Amino acid sequence: MSWIDIGHIEDIPLHGARVVKTPVGCVALFRTGAAEVFAADDRCPHKGGPLSEGIVHGQSVTCPLHNWVFDLNTGQAQGADEGRIGTYPVRVESGRLLIDGDAIGKRSAA
Ligand code: FES
Repeated sequence: MSWIDIGHIEDIPLHGARVVKTPVGCVALFRTGAAEVFAADDRCPHKGGPLSEGIVHGQSVTCPLHNWVFDLNTGQAQGADEGRIGTYPVRVESGRLLIDGDAIGKRSAA
């Protein structure tokens, strides 16, 4: 993996998100109430809602448009909803947010 520094964890509020532009499009970084960080596609597979403007609860995010809920670990829609968002390896090191550049690069070539 090649880790890319994309900012500081304090750039993202608790229960909030921040968007970074990548070769594969906008990726949202979500910070949970427990200060975990997840990276996933910012675009909802239903009708393109901006998931970074959704509500983060537990390890899930609810789309702001029609309330679909996605598990941030797997990207899978929950309940009766069908669909999935891409997720990306991300980690925090000395407060810095690092995303796996190989993962987002591979997707752009697919
Ligand atoms: S666009 Fe996300 S639930 Fe409809």
